[in-house]
Amino acid sequence: MALENKLGITSAPELAEAEERISKKKAIELFENGILDKLVAGKFESLKAIHKYLFEDIYDFAGKIRTVNISKGNFRFAPLMYLEAALVNIDKMPQSTFDEIIEKYVEMNIAHPFREGNGRSTRIWLDCILKKEIGKVVDWSQVDKEDYLLAMERSPIKDIEIKHILKNALTDDINSREVYMKGIDHSYYYEGYTTFKTEEL
Ligand SMILES: Nc1ncnc2c1ncn2[C@@H]1O[C@H](COP(=O)(O)OP(=O)(O)O)[C@@H](O)[C@H]1O
Ligand SMILES: [Mg+2]
Repeated sequence: MALENKLGITSAPELAEAEERISKKKAIELFENGILDKLVAGKFESLKAIHKYLFEDIYDFAGKIRTVNISKGNFRFAPLMYLEAALVNIDKMPQSTFDEIIEKYVEMNIAHPFREGNGRSTRIWLDCILKKEIGKVVDWSQVDKEDYLLAMERSPIKDIEIKHILKNALTDDINSREVYMKGIDHSYYYEGYTTFKTEEL
């Protein structure tokens, strides 16, 4: 079954295809129209704005905090009960060095504030912080998908692997649309549409 959506699509593969096409188009707009540069780097409000922009034509929950608990593999993302408090704390985390920025990214991934689309929106949010604070971004084409996902799975326990992978992929090419778009490219990061288990509350 597909997630409820504004397009009236009920087939999961069909929704995945439409979602990819629309969110990519919106991601290009975000990059081109300068909205990203106006956001305050490293705040949840900015991530919300990114998520809303990417998914507002597809989901009612675009830019809205999830109302269900979600897990993936053996990992449970932040329980709803603690989610808002976690987001307040993440906003206050420092972000002046590469290590601090990745630590913040890892915490935001653990929070997983949205029902869907956390990966794509949070990678754009991460790039905004890196760009502003250290004048670099991740060249996602240099990041192997399997290595990335394994490192993200490990990151709540140990963040050394994700730091290593992302550090090796840093580039000064901060204004390249191609570099930016790789971070949300499904062929790189899409894991399929049946990966999340949810417990409706
Ligand atoms: N087992 C896991 N533990 C922690 N984080 C994970 C795990 N699996 C995937 N992730 C992270 O979650 C992201 C996927 O979240 P999701 O909300 O489905 O976003 P999207 O729909 O944009 O891919 C991945 O890109 C990765 O960063
Ligand atoms: Mg997903």
